[in-house]
Amino acid sequence: MGCTIMVGGLFGDEGKGKIVAHVACFDKPSIIARGGVGPNAGHTVIVGDKRYGIRMIPSGFVHKDTRLLIGAGVLVDPNVFLGEVSSLDVKGRVFVDKRCSIIEEKHIVQDKGSSHLFKKIGSTGTGCGPANEERVRRTAKQAKDIEDLQAFLTDVPLEINEALDKGENVMIEGTQGFGISLYYGTYPFVTSKDTSASQMAADVGIGPSRVDDVIVVFKSFPTRVGSGPFETEMTPEEANGLGIEEFGTVTGRPRRIGMWDGKMAKYSAMINGATQIALTGLDKIDPACKGITDYDKLSTKVKEFVESAQKDVGVPFTLLSTGPEISEIIDLRGN
Ligand code: GTP
Ligand code: IMP
Ligand code: MG
Repeated sequence: MGCTIMVGGLFGDEGKGKIVAHVACFDKPSIIARGGVGPNAGHTVIVGDKRYGIRMIPSGFVHKDTRLLIGAGVLVDPNVFLGEVSSLDVKGRVFVDKRCSIIEEKHIVQDKGSSHLFKKIGSTGTGCGPANEERVRRTAKQAKDIEDLQAFLTDVPLEINEALDKGENVMIEGTQGFGISLYYGTYPFVTSKDTSASQMAADVGIGPSRVDDVIVVFKSFPTRVGSGPFETEMTPEEANGLGIEEFGTVTGRPRRIGMWDGKMAKYSAMINGATQIALTGLDKIDPACKGITDYDKLSTKVKEFVESAQKDVGVPFTLLSTGPEISEIIDLRGN
């Protein structure tokens, strides 16, 4: 495995939390490090009847022997972070880069009070945009300046590069998705940073030459929350008819839902340098496939969908998710 980066290939909420949690339990990396914007993310991890909605701690926390790191590029909201440390019981194995920029209450007030960010763009109201603005102005606080974070500080790049030198497995967990990248997404309806695999590497402090694999996560019915173009969007009535409605993990807002977009998926895989694809929501194409773990047992309808999507993208589809629970997956990676 070496060093694997996982990123969202569409508009976010592709199911990265589920895929990262599976791969963490299967590949047992010594480190899982989070890149991405900050607590605007909401990863869902479901293990048995337990459901976690996580905004700051890497989704791979379910693998108990892994060190959980938050890269310097990520914005940390100390309240959200400390709340998750105690609710997930991960103290002692979760660490934050000393250079992470801090979200303060004033950033949340600015975000929610901004007609441009909150009303026009449809931001999550978590303070990320204003905190990144302040970071660029170079007046933001860093994790090392915050008393409550002292016990969690580390040098994330040093930890990751040393683990890789020793031949250990490391996973880099991205958040958000390609379509809301500040550089490559549907500007101005985007988040406050790039979301591609290269950005995730920079966020945790590894050079491109250290990365072995990039797994881009797609969902069979793309979704989008907030405003902005969505070429293959269907009406809420159509989504309701198909029984595939979704609601946001952080904001609870209904997600806009669309049909598979092969052109977008191919372009996204190109910019991310995808070596493998994970596809979630196969049970939404055919509910009879829920929970299946063996490719041969999938229905013809689902197999045809996967084969056609793989042809669109031109990269092997190696992880096929057949339900939200961590064990509902077909893993074709052959390791
Ligand atoms: P961000 O980092 O915020 O972009 O989120 P994410 O990519 O981790 O996805 P999120 O958990 O927000 O949303 C994915 C939703 O799909 C969650 O409700 C998951 O439980 C669910 N999910 C994941 N995989 C599957 C699947 O194969 N089938 C179904 N039906 N649901 C899935
Ligand atoms: P912000 O990042 O909170 O400023 O939100 C900007 C845009 O990105 C809005 O349309 C949000 O809905 C969207 N967004 C931000 N983070 C996520 C995410 O993790 N999943 C899906 N959409 C997101
Ligand atoms: Mg989410």
